[in-house]
Amino acid sequence: MTRSHRKTVQFVLDGEVIELADFDPTRTVLQYLREDLHRTGTKEGCAEGDCGACTVVVADRGASGRLQSRAINACIQFLPTLDGKELLTVESLKAADGSPHPVQQAMVDCHGSQCGFCTPGFVMSLFALYKNQRRPDRVAIDDTLAGNLCRCTGYRPIVSAARAMFERAPEESESWLLATHDVMTADEKRHLELLQSIAHEDVVALEKNGRRYFAPRDVTELASLLQQFPDATLLAGGTDVGLWVTKQHRELSTVIDTGRVAELQKVSETKDALLIGGCVTFTDLMPKLLEHFPTLEELMLRFASPPIRNAATLGGNVANGSPIGDSMPALLALDSKLRLTSAGGTRELALADFYIDYQKNALRKGEFLEALIIPKLKGREQLFTYKVSKRFDQDISAVCAAYRLTVDAGVIKDARVAYGGLAAIPRRAAGCEAALIGKPFVEETFVAAGSAITNDFEPITDMRASDEYRRRIMMNLLLRAYQEALARSNNKPMSRVYDYGRRSTA
Ligand SMILES: Cc1cc2nc3c(=O)[nH]c(=O)nc-3n(C[C@H](O)[C@H](O)[C@H](O)COP(=O)(O)OP(=O)(O)OC[C@H]3O[C@@H](n4cnc5c(N)ncnc54)[C@H](O)[C@@H]3O)c2cc1C
Ligand code: FES
Ligand code: FES
Repeated sequence: MTRSHRKTVQFVLDGEVIELADFDPTRTVLQYLREDLHRTGTKEGCAEGDCGACTVVVADRGASGRLQSRAINACIQFLPTLDGKELLTVESLKAADGSPHPVQQAMVDCHGSQCGFCTPGFVMSLFALYKNQRRPDRVAIDDTLAGNLCRCTGYRPIVSAARAMFERAPEESESWLLATHDVMTADEKRHLELLQSIAHEDVVALEKNGRRYFAPRDVTELASLLQQFPDATLLAGGTDVGLWVTKQHRELSTVIDTGRVAELQKVSETKDALLIGGCVTFTDLMPKLLEHFPTLEELMLRFASPPIRNAATLGGNVANGSPIGDSMPALLALDSKLRLTSAGGTRELALADFYIDYQKNALRKGEFLEALIIPKLKGREQLFTYKVSKRFDQDISAVCAAYRLTVDAGVIKDARVAYGGLAAIPRRAAGCEAALIGKPFVEETFVAAGSAITNDFEPITDMRASDEYRRRIMMNLLLRAYQEALARSNNKPMSRVYDYGRRSTA
């Protein structure tokens, strides 16, 4: 089927459908809000997704058919990606009579703001929480705020506001009812109807001053566009690509957005493996991933922040191939494969063969990552993953490690060991694996295997860690995996760093 092309983008803002044409497709949502609409409640701090000053909420129809509201960072989100969605900014929150939203009132009552620069961002992150959870615990509140920085108020009053906002929830008849209500309210229906009025099946195709943007709807269209524009930049969540524009000032002549390609949004499973579409966000992926790999919880929750995870995809993380990307060690330890597709067909490639050198991978011209195939754990296989970074939340790894161990009758039958942050690419530690397989499951084996890792990697010194620190960490994490496997075999689960990092769940 050949779909028609549309030269405009449509989205909802404050109950009205906005239609935009003839604009630079790499213009960010933040630039549009502040410079075009002069809606300056949304602030710019870092322009790289780190501080949360620019947090806005994007709503659309979720998989359940209900209104789904998610916080994102407007500073790195390209404007055309709003097509078919609803945008909510801090200005959208006030009620028809001008009274503040319960989130805003709670921030006032709990003294959650001093200079106020960060406040709209906090309010929008809390607003997303308010919409999505009934009574979040401290862990959920802390996680919600992980992407918002405040330099003056301190977080305690903001956490108090996060609790107090639920006490200020309006009556059922009022606007901004919780989307968590079991019955769909008139307000939610109204939002969904507006979204339905802009739910088109055509391809968005924009061009301005030689810059093109396409949003194809299926893999055939995506493959054919990539054949036509082999040097195009593929866009998933834009949490890497956005920074190429805002920080590196790169000019992207053709952008192909994979965010509308139906096949790339799917998560499915067979008896032996999970199949994750190339454009599934971390937020959407987490429930299924943790169902099969519960030990990934800490790594996933420490991956950036909710606004980043709401946009960022596993496919983008893998395709970007940063040596310090957090998902690759675990995917390597699980022997994951990639399904790569182009107009010429589809092939499967082991992730271990995907990375060639620093920021070089095996993608051919015209090819894209259609899906990741992650084998499920079998029999006695166990997975352990660790992230070491300077900050607990929202930080890039100095070292990230993953171990898959199979221990039977006191012998290590199989081992996969993979690290990020130790070489130009994330990769397995072949020497260490050889030193483990077939050996007794005792501490001495792991100490010896730890020495073998020093032949696998030659860590460097950079701003995140010294070579010496990395060397110690790579060995110590292996010992930690041993301790954890031992504790589990004795039915004594280890305390997770996550528990300490969160300090208090009270
Ligand atoms: C504040 C902040 C915090 C971060 N924290 C972390 C962190 O803790 N851990 C971590 O690992 N990363 C982190 N990142 C990096 C980033 O979020 C991840 O790499 C993310 O997974 C990228 O996914 P994306 O969907 O945003 O990709 P995009 O930015 O859209 O794309 C990334 C790359 O993948 C390519 N690509 C996208 N889709 C496809 C496809 N289907 N086929 C082929 N190529 C494709 C793009 O062309 C580009 O080269 C952080 C980034 C920010 C801004
Ligand atoms: S301006 Fe800092 S996250 Fe967007
Ligand atoms: S109130 Fe000043 S930065 Fe948060």
